[in-house]
Amino acid sequence: MTETTIDVGTLRAWLDRGRPVTVLDIRRPDERAEWSIPGSLHVDAYEALKTHDPDALRHVDLPMDVPVVTVCGAGKTSAIAAEQLRGRGVQALSLTGGMKAWSLAWNSAEVPIPRSEARVIQARRTGKGCLSYLIGAHGTATVIDAALDPQVYLEVAQACGWTITQVMDTHVHADHLSRSRMLAALTGATLYLPDQRRVSYPFTAIRDQDVLTIGASGRTQHGRTQGSPLLTGLHTPGHTLESTCYLLDDRVLFTGDTLFLAGVGRPDLDASSEEARARAHALYHSLQRLLDLPPETLILPGHTSTPIAFDHVPLSATLAAVRTQISALQMPEHTFVETILSRIPPTPPNYHRIVELNETGTLPDGDPADLEAGANRCAVA
Ligand SMILES: [Fe+2]
Repeated sequence: MTETTIDVGTLRAWLDRGRPVTVLDIRRPDERAEWSIPGSLHVDAYEALKTHDPDALRHVDLPMDVPVVTVCGAGKTSAIAAEQLRGRGVQALSLTGGMKAWSLAWNSAEVPIPRSEARVIQARRTGKGCLSYLIGAHGTATVIDAALDPQVYLEVAQACGWTITQVMDTHVHADHLSRSRMLAALTGATLYLPDQRRVSYPFTAIRDQDVLTIGASGRTQHGRTQGSPLLTGLHTPGHTLESTCYLLDDRVLFTGDTLFLAGVGRPDLDASSEEARARAHALYHSLQRLLDLPPETLILPGHTSTPIAFDHVPLSATLAAVRTQISALQMPEHTFVETILSRIPPTPPNYHRIVELNETGTLPDGDPADLEAGANRCAVA
């Protein structure tokens, strides 16, 4: 029997291995502008397909020797598109669950870290742009900002020969459901969160200048364990009050939603306009502290605002490059605050509910993607 559909896991694996495939997005242009599958083609045929117009895809030129995967929002109209294409001899498959299901697709890239015992893998939730990290050393892994199904981290760690022993978040997230608590419970790893009173479940608090050892459990009181990489918490309030960056061996900075490669964290979520202004001031001082780090410090952010290609190229930049890229980082405090507050993007959908679930450490009944769909909106560019 000829297949008529493809699931997200299979399409993800094809793209990851570089298997030839044409992804044809048939959604409305405004929906495509929100987020899309990297490398996909677009045809504005949604309305025509919904009315079963037989000419809806007539002008789309597609290769006959490569499978075509049709994509819509939830996988219904794309099935009509795939059927029409098969009718003219194209090997067409409809993506089951559409972009909603694609929300959990991922890829990864190793981040080269010169002169360090640690290896760092960037695990990317491609549709939403969430970036999480595994830091591996001496057979163990520490996971930062788990945003994907816990099985993904287990799979990546296992492939590297690591056991996950520490899990941590940079802050209480508002745009996606943190999987850190679940990952820690599944692996028996210690769960670390920035010191705060928002979260109602047990965790080990990280405070400013606390140092964790990677490859030996727990925080170090007496300096470096022989050869073990060290991770230092830097409290950087602004995006949220508890936001904390993690500095690996004084040369790699995991910035969460405080500093991105082309923007800074928005200070307004879950805040009155007065609080947002106070947080923007705090963000200014936090960023100045980060800018005092050596210019060659490698920045590894918690998000990107565009879909992440299956290219195994890490999303990172030196602090010097980020400083040049983001004009707000060169502004004096007053101008910075006014500029940030004037450029706040629309609030992410469902963020109140997502914050509430992250504070109680629970996942919703049903499909988490119902709450999380759409691109990330944590940045001010
Ligand atoms: Fe955030």
